Amino acid sequence: MKKFLLFISIVASLYACKDVVNEIPDTPFSSAPYSFTYSDAVLPPPRIASDNPLTNEGVQLGRMLFYDPILSGDSTQSCASCHNQKNAFTDNGKPFSEGINGTFGTRNSMPIFNLMWHLDGFFWDGRADILRHQALVPIEDPIEMDETIGNVLAKVNSSANYKDQFKKAFNVEEIDEEQLGKAFEQFMLSIVSGNSKFDKVQLGLASFTDQEKVGQIIFNSEAVTLQDEIDSQNPINYGADCFHCHGNSLFMRREYLSNGLSDNGDKGRGGATGIADDDCKFKTPSLRNIEKTAPYMHDGRFNTLEEVIQFYLSPMDNSCADLANSPNMHALKDSIYLSESNKEALVSFLKTLTDETLLTDERYSNPF
Ligand code: HEC
Ligand code: HEC
Repeated sequence: MKKFLLFISIVASLYACKDVVNEIPDTPFSSAPYSFTYSDAVLPPPRIASDNPLTNEGVQLGRMLFYDPILSGDSTQSCASCHNQKNAFTDNGKPFSEGINGTFGTRNSMPIFNLMWHLDGFFWDGRADILRHQALVPIEDPIEMDETIGNVLAKVNSSANYKDQFKKAFNVEEIDEEQLGKAFEQFMLSIVSGNSKFDKVQLGLASFTDQEKVGQIIFNSEAVTLQDEIDSQNPINYGADCFHCHGNSLFMRREYLSNGLSDNGDKGRGGATGIADDDCKFKTPSLRNIEKTAPYMHDGRFNTLEEVIQFYLSPMDNSCADLANSPNMHALKDSIYLSESNKEALVSFLKTLTDETLLTDERYSNPF
């Protein structure tokens, strides 16, 4: 991949600032800090907590843990079972994931990439404040890996290989919960997606087809309110308003929002905070790699991007958002109009967000 050579290597420590610090650890045991290899013309600078700077050893250790089934109660399931690289780290096209006991959860598995720029809340409802805490939740969840952290610590502490790696990464003799979480955090933060066709177009290395260009305009334009004025030759006249919530280079918004889905009994953010105003709001997902992460929404209710677009084009039904008093989404859904060819154009633009490098990069793959 010659084009990749044009990508500059970003040494994380160049971007140190007040609370977003990426500094070389002062502990002498650790070797080179981890270097990101994405273009700073397409994605923001690294955003890493100062108390867990990424090192090659820490990232590599986290990668082993991520793919190691010893983390689950019966040693059959690893994180990667429900977060498969070739699906942008989601669960193989399934709406719900199956835990080791054959029971299913009630939410769709989430992609893992560009997490360093997420809001400080993980899961659809943001109930984990920080990634290193999030990582320990599925291990103990009875409908996921159904293991105790105590048992996992006993297993890694009895492995000479893991002990050696934790020593190299964190300079510890005895592994505890903190380093376990930090190792997961390092690996997951190292996973970056910024080499899609969209990115190559930004860098002047590729160009959109006419259809993709129309899709981009529709994505980035306000919806019209007067359908009479629609000029079918001019897509700017009837944008789909996607950019308000999925705009910028990350294609997400760092907020919990409602997009007007009908109620399925899941209160989302409200369930985590207990605040009525948060009911029916969910973490606003990134649309990068969306082609690879079907089915869609927190409960995987839509199988295709065409179905998702049809949902945004349909009037509000008996929706959760009404309960959460979301008038903006109401106005939006009542006013979007897209012709068949413009729906296709929007889908073709969304598919330019697929990053084949993410799906195949060896640095993120199974090390075993
Ligand atoms: C049985 C399937 C399953 C396993 C195993 C699993 N996950 Fe998940 N993961 C999910 C589901 C489902 C969600 C969404 C859950 C929710 O919102 O309540 C999720 C959410 C996440 C998120 C949140 C992403 C975001 O944008 O907020 C991260 C990070 C994550 N998992 C990492 C891990 C790690 C690390 C492991 C291993 C320790 C793991 N997962 C094991 C199914 C699984
Ligand atoms: C008001 C903010 C808002 C607007 C406008 C909006 N979205 Fe969303 N979108 C969301 C939220 C919030 C979710 C997650 C909803 C959930 O699962 O409960 C979401 C989910 C999605 C998903 C599923 C993502 C996944 O990982 O499952 C897709 C695809 C999507 N939106 C595409 C679009 C497109 C295309 C448009 C323009 C037609 C659009 N969105 C407009 C807020 C918005």
